[in-house]
Order: sequence, then C-alpha cells, then structure tokens
Amino acid sequence: MTKCCKPFTTNPLTKNKMNQDKNNSTLPSFFHSLPLTPSHSPIIGLSPMDDITDLPFREICKEFGADLLITEFIASEALNRDAEKSFRKMRFTPKQRPIGIQIFGADEEELLRCLEIVEQAEPDFIDINWGCPVRKVAGKGAGSGILQDIPKMLRITAALVKHSHLPVTVKTRLGYSTDSMMITDFAEALQDTGIAALSIHGRTKTQMYSGTADWTMIGKVKNNPRMHIPIFGNGDITTATQAVENKNRYGVDGILIGRGAIGNPWIFEQCQRVLRGEPEREITVAERVDVCRRHLHAAVAFKGERTAIFEMRKHYGAYFKGLFNFKPFRLALVSTPTLEETLAVLDRIKEHYNTLP
Ligand SMILES: Cc1cc2nc3c(=O)[nH]c(=O)nc-3n(C[C@H](O)[C@H](O)[C@H](O)COP(=O)(O)O)c2cc1C
Repeated sequence: MTKCCKPFTTNPLTKNKMNQDKNNSTLPSFFHSLPLTPSHSPIIGLSPMDDITDLPFREICKEFGADLLITEFIASEALNRDAEKSFRKMRFTPKQRPIGIQIFGADEEELLRCLEIVEQAEPDFIDINWGCPVRKVAGKGAGSGILQDIPKMLRITAALVKHSHLPVTVKTRLGYSTDSMMITDFAEALQDTGIAALSIHGRTKTQMYSGTADWTMIGKVKNNPRMHIPIFGNGDITTATQAVENKNRYGVDGILIGRGAIGNPWIFEQCQRVLRGEPEREITVAERVDVCRRHLHAAVAFKGERTAIFEMRKHYGAYFKGLFNFKPFRLALVSTPTLEETLAVLDRIKEHYNTLP
C-alpha cells in the first residue's frame, strides 16, 4: 500500500466521473458532484498556499465556513519518488471535504504517473497548478511557466482529465505576460479538455504579486456565453464585502481567498454573514488568541513541536495585525523555542489587550 494518506471515509465520487448536470438546480454541475451543502452562491474557498494551507490551517478555515479547500501544491515528481513530505501534504480529515489535491509539474509522464497515487488519497477532485510564478517552478516549465506553451498545457490537461477517475480542475493566471496569449483566448480550449472548473488569479506570470489583480478579465471569461464550467475568481480579496462585491460585479461561481485568510480564518464566516445580508462581526483579541492557540496545538499534533513552532511564526503577525504596540509580543512569539513558552506568550497577549481601557 502506498504511504500515509489512506482516506478516513469512502469517497462516493471516485467512480462517478462527473460533468453532467443531474438535477435542475442553478448551481453548476461540478458543485453537485461535490459533497457540498451550499445554500448560497458563490462558493467561497481557501486558495492553496504552499507552507500555509496545511492540514491544521485548513481545519480552522473549514470550521469558520470555507466551502471548499485545496491542499498546498505538491510536485508530481516528488510523489513519484515517494517523498515523505509530499505524502503528508496530501493528508486531510473527513471534515475537510470537499477538498482538492493540487499537483504541479512540467512533465506529462510524471504528472500522469502521480495520478494513481493522488487518487488513492481519495480527494474530491484533483487541481492542476498552472499558475505558480516562482522561478524554481515556472522556470522549469511547470506552474505558470507553461503559459508560454499553451498547446502543451492543453495537451497535458486533456491527458490528465482522460486518465483521472476524479474531476480535474485547473488553477491558473491571466497569461504569461500581457504580450502573450491571455486567459480570454484560451479558457474555452481549457474547458474543452474536460476540466470540471477553472480558477483564475487575476495577474500574469510576469506580474508575480505586484500591482492589483485584474478581475475584469476574470469577468470576461465568466461572461463568455460559451463557458459553462464554474469559474472561480481569485486575487486580492481581503474582506467579505469585497468578496460579495466581486461576485456581484463579475458573476463568478466561486471565489478563492488566499492571503486574506492568513491569520484571518474568520473571513469565511464574515463572507457567509454578508451573503446572508448580516453585518460582519467584530473579532475580539481573546478570540484571536484562542484560535491561534488551537491552530498551534493542531500544528504540533500534525508535524511535531519543533517544526510547528518554527512554521507557526508565519502566522502570528497576521493573527494580531493592527494591535497597538504589539512588537514586543511578536518578537517573543517568533523567538520562543517551545510550545509551553509560546502558550505563555499567548496568555500574556490575551491578558494585556483584554485589560486595556
Ligand atoms: C505564500 C504563498 C504560497 C502560495 N502557494 C500556492 C500554491 O501552492 N498553489 C497555488 O495554486 N497557488 C499558490 N499561491 C497563490 C494563491 O493561491 C493565490 O492565487 C494568490 O495569492 C492570489 O490570491 P490572494 O490575493 O487571495 O492571496 C500562493 C501564494 C502565496 C502568497
């Protein structure tokens, strides 16, 4: 048996390759194929982020109402050579469904070979990363590097769809650069490969993370009458109001929130509130401390104290963003080497800010 990621529950979808609409609801068929209970549109999901959206963080986002989760990206070649860390990235809990496992790579054979391994983890769908701009990925033709060779991207995507027993989705960017072929030119061809949904980050590869995400291009794809698969918009959503405004303006079926969820898993709950027409609620310092503490405990349980203490340092600044004179606490959080000491700092934060006038 392959390592580690045997599912906790049986996925009823494994044999049910899906793109037909089986009922008359207005939700796109891909959503019917998922164990979703959406009473609303759009679907608000957590955007995959390497070294951030691991199992413990996803669990917390789910708890606060994220409709859809996707793992961090996982190198096909690392899965094929049995790399322990990559197998760990595929793990998820039953509560995290519907969840996609995201894979990346530039080599068609490696990508096809890892399909079986990914399918054994029984996610609800497999997401292909055609969007990562970082040099070590894109420079090898994977991630958004492939946007320089659209025919290759289409060929590999079609092959993965053909050989997968699960729905395959794609997450990509607007294009390689503004001089090259843009998403509005190739979205239909991507759809024709048989993918179940398309997520678009509103930047080009060459933009990396600079400037602002261009949602008008995402809207153009969504409003192309020939597009029928769900379109997820992504980029720069940091508040629930923005998420709902973008849904209304661009008509997307779903929204993926990445950086806006770091240290702020409440953003999903706030989105649900705003979608129901309720006001956002204030998140107290005590609540921030409690959720951060639970996140820390879950991280320790998942990856061990040493690694968890180190990796959690990426989250603290965001959990306590905006607190007056927070610097000494932040310094303490990023330098304490043990769980016990970190918990003591968190207690001090709670006490200090709760007793402020
Ligand atoms: C630290 C970090 C890691 C990321 N890792 C991934 C990844 O593994 N897979 C992926 O598709 N996108 C990845 N992204 C891109 C995000 O999913 C998202 O597309 C991008 O950050 C824009 O959305 P946002 O403005 O809501 O963050 C990453 C982004 C960041 C900041």
